[in-house]
Amino acid sequence: MANLSPTLPSVPLLFFARISGLTVALLVLFWALAFKSSFLTHSLSQQDLIYAILHPLLMVIGFIILSGKAILVHRWLPGSRSLKKSVHLCLQGVALTSGIFGIWTKFQGQNGIVANFYSLHSWMGLLCVSLFGAQWLMGFLNFWHRGEARSARIRILPWHIFLGLYTYGLAIATAETGLLEKLTLLQTKRNVPKHSTESIVVNSLGLGLALLSCFVILAAVSPKYQSSLQSKLLYLDTRCLSS
Ligand code: HEM
Repeated sequence: MANLSPTLPSVPLLFFARISGLTVALLVLFWALAFKSSFLTHSLSQQDLIYAILHPLLMVIGFIILSGKAILVHRWLPGSRSLKKSVHLCLQGVALTSGIFGIWTKFQGQNGIVANFYSLHSWMGLLCVSLFGAQWLMGFLNFWHRGEARSARIRILPWHIFLGLYTYGLAIATAETGLLEKLTLLQTKRNVPKHSTESIVVNSLGLGLALLSCFVILAAVSPKYQSSLQSKLLYLDTRCLSS
């Protein structure tokens, strides 16, 4: 993989990733709590309102922010490699559970599953969570499972990294389409003005997600990470040749 920027220090990148993650979490919480009526469904029931609010909260905080933290675990967590691997796997597991539960909340609406799957957002969301699930399972089998052949792990590691970053990017793109769909609906059907506070909050949330993904991906592919990946591959390679 290309050396993107030889002088980029990892600490400011992690700091910026944290700050943008926190801002995004606060913005989505503020949107959900201060503009509850925007999430009211036709049924007007309290239960449907909770499901409608839970979807963006689980997807943004549980799925996107947690998986970003998990991607960078080797950067911020001190300790042994096996500890980092365990935390990586657990955080990704919680993110995946949030993603599945977040989609499940949408199945609770009056219309049922078939009526909902009409939008690009829902198709991308399904692809994204399915890839994430497959990636988690592959990661579990290849890196966690001690009996797995080392040569297989060497071959799979670059694909694990590529697919992990691709799925993360896809999650951000999916959330952006979700925000756009929701805001367009509010502006066209619920008379929310185009220059209202709510529109500014939702647009800022979208921008925050774009910034967050920039810092997370840059921190993940920055040179320090690359050198540790190369030494890991070298280590696996020599162990493989000597065994
Ligand atoms: C990674 C993030 C996200 C993923 C993977 C995701 C996934 C999905 C999926 C699979 C559906 C279809 C469920 C069904 O139709 O039964 C859906 C529906 C929906 N989502 Fe998201 N979502 C994400 C973020 C968001 C965000 C941030 C919003 C903002 C409010 C949002 C708003 C909606 C809305 C309004 C629907 C119902 C309309 C539709 O099916 O397109 N989503 N989402």
